Amino acid sequence: MFDQTAAEPYLDDLGPDDADINDHDTWVQGVPHATFARLRRENPVPWISEKDGRGYWAITRYSDAFLMSRDTETFTSCQGIRLEDMKPDEIDARKTLMETDPPEHTRYRRLVSRGFTPRVVNTYEAAIRSLAVEVIDRALQHREFDFVTQVAQELPMRMLGRMLGTSDEDGHQLVEWGDALLGNTDPDFTDFPVDLVDTEEFRLMPFRSPAAIEIFDYASKIADERRSHPTDDVITQLLAPTKDGTPLTDLEFKNFFTLIIAAGNDTTRYTITHGLKVLLDHPHLFDVWRAAVLSGNPDLTTAAVEEILRTGSVTTHMRRTATCDTEIGGQKISKGDKLAIYFISADHDEARFSNPYRFDLLRDDNEHMAFGRNGPHFCLGAWLARMEVKVIFEELLKRVVRIEQCGDVLRLRSNFLSGIKRLPVRIVRVA
Ligand code: HEM
Repeated sequence: MFDQTAAEPYLDDLGPDDADINDHDTWVQGVPHATFARLRRENPVPWISEKDGRGYWAITRYSDAFLMSRDTETFTSCQGIRLEDMKPDEIDARKTLMETDPPEHTRYRRLVSRGFTPRVVNTYEAAIRSLAVEVIDRALQHREFDFVTQVAQELPMRMLGRMLGTSDEDGHQLVEWGDALLGNTDPDFTDFPVDLVDTEEFRLMPFRSPAAIEIFDYASKIADERRSHPTDDVITQLLAPTKDGTPLTDLEFKNFFTLIIAAGNDTTRYTITHGLKVLLDHPHLFDVWRAAVLSGNPDLTTAAVEEILRTGSVTTHMRRTATCDTEIGGQKISKGDKLAIYFISADHDEARFSNPYRFDLLRDDNEHMAFGRNGPHFCLGAWLARMEVKVIFEELLKRVVRIEQCGDVLRLRSNFLSGIKRLPVRIVRVA
């Protein structure tokens, strides 16, 4: 057992309590936790104005987020899951699994879920571990390095490459494209930040991004290769005819491939980075977890991974659209209104989690919403991501006795993904 100091607040600064949660620049400073806390307390479903949109309702409490995630009849995903207002032809062209409701969603999800079930992901553990060891050992050849690019980015990219049957060299390119998609509001990741330059010519591409054109070409090439030379990878499975329905169409395949590249890399990278940042800020947590790994205590690792997921909650929100006049959290909502489920706020809701700003290795009821919860859109990659976070920390903690931060962090400019894109570290002692 470890002492209660392991349960101290993981953050000293919750930020201002009047931040504009929709402004991408707000998130560069840090997660606006104090603002969310005030909203949960005083105005749990506020109306948020947008500079370049028609405004939306923000769902900040866990109980409302939980209810909404399940009710796809009242809160549809078909108008998009990002806040951007799209015209009907854009919605059609850019549609992925995420932008469908049951029953269409059910068919689509059944087709793509085979490679991502907990049972299948368990069979990946050895591969993930050997990649993690390779990545960490290479990083540890240097005393100082950027943890994000050298470690946190590498494992998800390489593992996805193994699953999709792409090479490590192509993987770097895919990550760059994926960054340009999910980081489409950050000038470090794209020359076409959607709110800063005119992106009209790309309006029919996923994320309104020219990078999607290149991913589509790449996806077409790979699909042709697999059709003529089937292998045992996930792409071959996606293209194979099924007993219970038609396989994905070409556009569905390309959109799904793009979704996986975008959803499977950055989220896991930023979650791993968030986890290390907590350990750097709280070295005794590092020691407690390390001792548990060395003595073979898997329960503590499971608890730590779930706390990393909850406190990081890196996909800050998903949008839904009301299909009828309704009410949520005491707020009247009109048909057609946009709403955003703020998972990151739900995951710090004091009504659901006691001492939500504590990184608590004894938390026993950690039903966080980092992957969504309770609904058909629950993250397809949740088990894969959990496995990657677990294994990378187990292998890191076995090899490193002391590590410290040696430079400023740089945060992503995005209200959609909460992420640290640079985290310079120094290895003080290896095991
Ligand atoms: C820690 C890492 C990750 C986080 C925090 C995360 C978070 C999320 C969230 C919040 C959703 C939406 C849930 C909802 O609307 O109810 C989601 C959906 C999804 N995620 Fe993840 N994700 C992660 C990793 C991954 C990985 C590794 C993959 C694939 C390789 C992936 C693929 C997907 C897909 C395809 C969906 C759409 C599912 C659907 O609409 O049915 N995610 N994820």
